[in-house]
Amino acid sequence: MLGRGRSVLKYSRDARPPALTALDPHVSLRDGMNEANFSPSRKRIAVVPGDGIGKEVIPEAVKVLQAAAASGGREVALTEFDWGADRYLRDGTTLPADAVEMLRRDFDAILLGAMGDPRLPSNIHAAEILLGLRFKLDLYVNARPCVLFDKRFTPLKDRTEKDVNFMVFRENTEGLYVGMGGNFKKGTADEVAIQEDVNTRKGVERIIRYAFEFARLRGLQRVCMADKSNALTFAHDLWQRVFKEVRAEYPGIESSHQYIDNLLMQMVRDPAQFQVIVTSNLMGDIASDLGAQLAGGLGLAPSGNIHPGQVSLFEPVHGSAPNIAGKGIANPMGAILTVGMMFEFLGWQPEAQAIDKAVRAALKEGKTPAELGGGLTTREVGDWVANSVAKSGVVG
Ligand code: NAD
Ligand code: IPM
Ligand code: MN
Repeated sequence: MLGRGRSVLKYSRDARPPALTALDPHVSLRDGMNEANFSPSRKRIAVVPGDGIGKEVIPEAVKVLQAAAASGGREVALTEFDWGADRYLRDGTTLPADAVEMLRRDFDAILLGAMGDPRLPSNIHAAEILLGLRFKLDLYVNARPCVLFDKRFTPLKDRTEKDVNFMVFRENTEGLYVGMGGNFKKGTADEVAIQEDVNTRKGVERIIRYAFEFARLRGLQRVCMADKSNALTFAHDLWQRVFKEVRAEYPGIESSHQYIDNLLMQMVRDPAQFQVIVTSNLMGDIASDLGAQLAGGLGLAPSGNIHPGQVSLFEPVHGSAPNIAGKGIANPMGAILTVGMMFEFLGWQPEAQAIDKAVRAALKEGKTPAELGGGLTTREVGDWVANSVAKSGVVG
């Protein structure tokens, strides 16, 4: 048994016509979708709360998911999986052998909390579950929006909502994350440690192209590629050459390049210059945490690990936050907005918009947890947002 229980929700209202607009990049890039299995109003979602605050924020995100689906007349089948540190410590399972095939076959999307536990400093389960799913499902786009909902929440002086509104596209299947390398003479004074940075032409090209397509389909004007080609003269020279080739196909989009160290500085100095940033795996990991803080904090940041047209994985940007786990104070808004991203990917734009609207209302009315200066618990924030979605309804 892979799962630990199943709850199936059914809503009887007539299915709405699928909101598959030409402007939605996830949907219009649905190249590999098996249309026979694709139902616009019924979705099967695997839920993996994971570790630490993942177990606290995901139930709140699910509450909001259910409220939005019900309000929009959608049918959702949720199946929870207990993959994470507890399971690994109990029976040695990280990602079950048949999990990838099962997810591809039986699910439209995956909602994940976080992986990481102080009892497992090697992080082996995170590598096998989280990175394992990114690699094995070939989820090459890591989309991490940095959108400031209310100027009160940015640490930047005199910046407003219009200044922090960009997308970070992080390459998600290559780079320094592939786990190639090893040790020689480990534990001795002569120890050698090697970690390879793997960049393929196909891998680099598809993420850069995705960034340009996203800009084109959203009517955005600017794409900035960030690398460290001045030091990484083989790997990032490839990024340079591929970027030049792909940008030539998009003459209507202003494309620029910044070295990653400058990019991080520029994100703080003048974030308004960015609309779309595209970069490599590790650099995108770092840039997206910084971007999250510019937009109000890690607890507010959603993300999608996407392969257009195939089962994809959605998770908040933050980790398991062991320092606050179990206290009931984690901000569930990043996980809730992650459901919005997942709905958008699935073609449920009205439901995604309803979630976005409810989170904005919560922020406006101060219905926030400690991270954002409020006094609400994780559960109270989830309840408030779910009620708000249910009350306002889905319009579309
Ligand atoms: P983290 O994101 O867990 O926490 C960083 C800081 O932000 C902490 O102070 C934490 O309390 C705070 N924070 C994070 N999310 C918050 C939220 N929702 N509400 C309020 N505060 C929040 O990063 P870390 O401390 O570097 O890592 C902790 C563990 O999580 C490690 O094991 C790490 O490997 C793992 N991790 C997992 C993921 C993932 O599964 N996607 C992402 C990042 C880190
Ligand atoms: C993230 C996390 C992961 C990453 C860790 C847990 C391996 O930091 O999703 O941002 O580096 O990708
Ligand atoms: Mn990270």
